[in-house]
Amino acid sequence: MKHFISMQQLSKETMNQILKEAELIRTSPRTINKQLFAANLFFEPSTRTKISFEVAQKKLGLDVLDLHKEGSSLIKGESLYDTAKTFEAIGADFLIVRHPSDYWMEDIEKEGELNIPVINAGSGKEEHPTQCMLDVLTMYQEFGSVEGRKIVIAGDIVHSRVAKSNAHALEKLGAEVYFSAAPGFEDYSLKYPYITMDEAVEIADAVMLLRIQHERHVFKTETDDYLSLYGLTMERAAKMQKHAIILHPAPINRGVEIDTRLVESKQSRIFKQMENGVYVRMAILIHVLKEWGIIHENEINERK
Ligand code: CP
Repeated sequence: MKHFISMQQLSKETMNQILKEAELIRTSPRTINKQLFAANLFFEPSTRTKISFEVAQKKLGLDVLDLHKEGSSLIKGESLYDTAKTFEAIGADFLIVRHPSDYWMEDIEKEGELNIPVINAGSGKEEHPTQCMLDVLTMYQEFGSVEGRKIVIAGDIVHSRVAKSNAHALEKLGAEVYFSAAPGFEDYSLKYPYITMDEAVEIADAVMLLRIQHERHVFKTETDDYLSLYGLTMERAAKMQKHAIILHPAPINRGVEIDTRLVESKQSRIFKQMENGVYVRMAILIHVLKEWGIIHENEINERK
């Protein structure tokens, strides 16, 4: 196993193995019986990913080291590679990295080799593999599998790392993936069919809404008519199939991509996704640490 960077590197079998472990952890929490240092390097804002990694690490009994850009020597011009090597030298056992660059891991690898695993907590607009795994776990809990399920990913596709990670993974797991986007938000480098939001609500087993990523836009995007033209309104939600669910990675622009009354509605699994983030991240940490030989089966215990 290499670093945990992209959903494209994971086989269907590996995804299912990690998701099975996450589901086991949900009902029967685990701890690791070994002193390990987790280093969380967040160079872009995060609430859910950062905190759920931290909770996952603490539930596993790990020691947590925190770094963010303003408090680091990156401000003095130190490279990401040198920062990562520094953590390795000081004794971090693995790194969790979020960074605005699409290809920060490639940049690290151009400079040299890391001898501890790195887990991607979000890379620019390209990949968010741990978010994808928690999204899939949420769908598995609902449907048992995603085989043959129609999943519509709707919103600012071109700027969304969540869209890309999910589209690749869901296709590999046998789902029918559709995109829905306002003009200018499409990404035609990905070969998934586009449908309107009115079509989406009629066919979807799950509608995965995406936030407009204003921070990645060159010009300010007006959103006054966005909900009525492209978002999930109350009227559209009423046309969803009875069993269909609403997903959103959050943060949510309430009243823009989704009517605020739907955020905590019966069909919404948005806060369930956040809860699942902890189980999935615990399972990913155990999987990666085992793959690297940093921990062994006999060092993983059920938490009393
Ligand atoms: N879904 C997600 O990545 O949220 P944060 O940016 O708050 O981590």
